[in-house]
Amino acid sequence: MEHKYRRIAVLTSGGDAPGMNAAIRAVVRTAYANGIATLGVKRGYNGLINNDMHELTVSDVTGLTGMGGTVLFTARSEEFQTDAGLSRAVKSCEYMGIDAVVVIGGDGSFRGALDLSRYGIPTIGIPGTIDNDISCTNYTIGFDTAANTAIDAIDKLRDTMQSHERCSVVEVMGRKAGHLAVYVGIATGAIAILVPERPYDIETDIIEKIQNGKMHGRTHNIVIVAEGVGMCRELAQEIEAKTRMETRETILGHIQRGGKPNARDRVTASRLGRHAVEVLVSGRVNRVVGIQEGDMRDYDIAEALDMEKGLQETMYETSRILSLSD
Ligand code: F6P
Repeated sequence: MEHKYRRIAVLTSGGDAPGMNAAIRAVVRTAYANGIATLGVKRGYNGLINNDMHELTVSDVTGLTGMGGTVLFTARSEEFQTDAGLSRAVKSCEYMGIDAVVVIGGDGSFRGALDLSRYGIPTIGIPGTIDNDISCTNYTIGFDTAANTAIDAIDKLRDTMQSHERCSVVEVMGRKAGHLAVYVGIATGAIAILVPERPYDIETDIIEKIQNGKMHGRTHNIVIVAEGVGMCRELAQEIEAKTRMETRETILGHIQRGGKPNARDRVTASRLGRHAVEVLVSGRVNRVVGIQEGDMRDYDIAEALDMEKGLQETMYETSRILSLSD
């Protein structure tokens, strides 16, 4: 059964991700196509608490598809996690006549959406994070652009490492997940990829491989370390001490979150944004939209938050096999 919404709100929350703007645009335009007005809420849940929002028209979102960051700003709102903050946000939704809230972000942001829904405000989550760590979807907005940014930076590092015959230890983002590290490690031909989901042994997984490679003429190496593993500097020092190969560490950091979204992120964000509004219009609420095998899906928020997303085994195995040294 179709539900009649008059006014919805959209916000971005948590770490920004390339493609969030394309998702905002898709939400606004799909809502408009269904006769629904959209309010853009500033600074994530803080904007709901402080009533910091304004209407977004179809022309307001022109040109957003290719723009990095999020025009609505984003935040990790501590106040929203308190009873007082949540209740102010609920009141402001009621005061503004908001019939539903679309939240673009990661797991933490969806927990906020679940809290709102418990106060009777319908919500829909759109997965946006460079970490690709949301269980109910194969893909999260921003992952591919971030991976390409990291790959580009590592290709540049490789040039100088090759010239100096050095080893480069590179930390990529991902919070507690190693999806970005594995993907980037495969794409850059890393000799080792350390992720928080798998145990590793420095001797067999790194030192011996570098030494074997050295004996067979390998003059430089790239080691990728996921943020969730950390200890990049200590690892670089240990590699240098044990292999006698000069080693430098680089933490790529927030550069991975910036830049224009690539084609995959623009298109996926547009599809997810459209799907989110259509799910609402069809009468389903408190859902997270996602993409599985290329198809749009939606899941109950609480169930989605309970799902576990392990490292994709075949990807991890590929990275292990391809990083073998002689
Ligand atoms: O979730 C996205 C992410 O970039 C993580 O990879 C990282 O751990 C975190 O956000 C960094 O957050 P902040 O921008 O608050 O430093």
